[in-house]
Amino acid sequence: MYNKLIFEKSVAGANKRKLFNCDEKTVPEKYARKAKLNLPDVSEVDLVRHYQELARKAHGVANGFYPLGSCTMKYNPIINEEIASIENFRNIHPLQSQSDMQGSMEVMYKLKEALCEVTGMYDMTLQPSAGAHGELTSLMMIKQFHESNGEGYRNKVFIPDSAHGTNPASAAMVGYEVVEIPSTDGGFVDVKKLEELADEKTAALMLTNPNTLGIFERDIVKIAEIIHKAGGKLYYDGANMNAIMGYVRPGDMGFDVMHLNLHKTFSTPHGGGGPGSGPVGCTQELAPFLPNPSIKKNGEMYEFEDSDDSIGKVKSFYGNFLVNLRAYTYILSLGGKGLKEASENAVLNANYMKARLKEYYEMQSDGYCMHEFVMSASKIKDETGISALDIAKSMLDAKIHPPTMYFPLIVKEALMVEPTETESKKTLDYACDVLIDSAKLAYKDPEALHNAPSTTPVKRLDEVGAARNPILKYTEE
Ligand SMILES: Cc1ncc(COP(=O)(O)O)c(C=O)c1O
Repeated sequence: MYNKLIFEKSVAGANKRKLFNCDEKTVPEKYARKAKLNLPDVSEVDLVRHYQELARKAHGVANGFYPLGSCTMKYNPIINEEIASIENFRNIHPLQSQSDMQGSMEVMYKLKEALCEVTGMYDMTLQPSAGAHGELTSLMMIKQFHESNGEGYRNKVFIPDSAHGTNPASAAMVGYEVVEIPSTDGGFVDVKKLEELADEKTAALMLTNPNTLGIFERDIVKIAEIIHKAGGKLYYDGANMNAIMGYVRPGDMGFDVMHLNLHKTFSTPHGGGGPGSGPVGCTQELAPFLPNPSIKKNGEMYEFEDSDDSIGKVKSFYGNFLVNLRAYTYILSLGGKGLKEASENAVLNANYMKARLKEYYEMQSDGYCMHEFVMSASKIKDETGISALDIAKSMLDAKIHPPTMYFPLIVKEALMVEPTETESKKTLDYACDVLIDSAKLAYKDPEALHNAPSTTPVKRLDEVGAARNPILKYTEE
């Protein structure tokens, strides 16, 4: 009964519910399905049990600590859900007339204003539906800007090797040549190298800050000077704004365009392929290139407005409205002071864990980190054969989701830890104890770690097999 696919639970005729009276008379012939749709036939109660069973096997923020570095799996306050479930928001239709949608348009406008305030940007679009989508949007704007200036020949985008992996992918999708900038031993952008390479072909530089080692770039002013002198634009990957809110703003640091991950910094957990939101902010100079439509205020009315220079639409309608609404709720419930405190606690929690763990794992940066840090199990692996993967799997037995593994790529046996601001000292101590115990166990009883996890509903998976022989589609034998 359990561990079966929903298709294997199917019994002909079990589903007594019909969606609505949909027969061939209501569907025009040309749209009518020719073959029977292969859907599982299960009763409502079996369906509910099936998904509850799957949920019990998964680990979410509501089950326990989830320090998945770079993904910010933080708690999403219930008030966000309450506001997002208000009927007039939930049931709004994007094709309603603008005069009918004034309340929701006010939310979009005020969220945009709040995000401009937090980032120091002039204008903002809420359309992109994820961080990487925001990167793509930003680069399309930069490209259109250069082309409109007769400088479409600019084709190089500089990306430090400590940038988030989506950055080079986004640049390549826009048709740019990616030029990697190496990091110095301290994990900072090699400014000398950048200076050598920046030339009249420079289109932009993409900076992830704090970078994937969890450190704040030291030479931003110099980097901005080099890129702007070469005629390029500066793009800020602001997915990790939760490390700096209320302290520094990309707009004040000289960035021309940036994206935010509302589904990280402004709550709503990240991951699982669920809906996200990656608003893009920019300077006044780049504002005409933002996606259409922009939301404006005219007297007491909110209006959508198109710009002739716009890159066009990047998503249907106006973005993931309910994710944006949750972010606006979060901003209003915390206020400016609360957002600043959220960043302080995110940074404090990461530094607390880093300090407790540094005796047992090799830290990849000296001194303080921002909201996350990267440690390596390389020495443990060399001395005991226990890898970062084994350590990560052992955490599952302690009901903790493992940190991000083997990322960033520049660190061997990497474990990237992001505790987030919402966790208590008690939880952080528990997680540190678990990680310390695993490091000690590696020397005493490595076999126990090789076999972990042993208490979870799903034991150690054959990850190589899953990657080499993926079964992505159900087929009846
Ligand atoms: C620094 C950084 N940039 C970009 C992204 C991409 O965001 P998304 O997964 O929403 O596309 C992430 C994701 O966590 C990130 O951490």
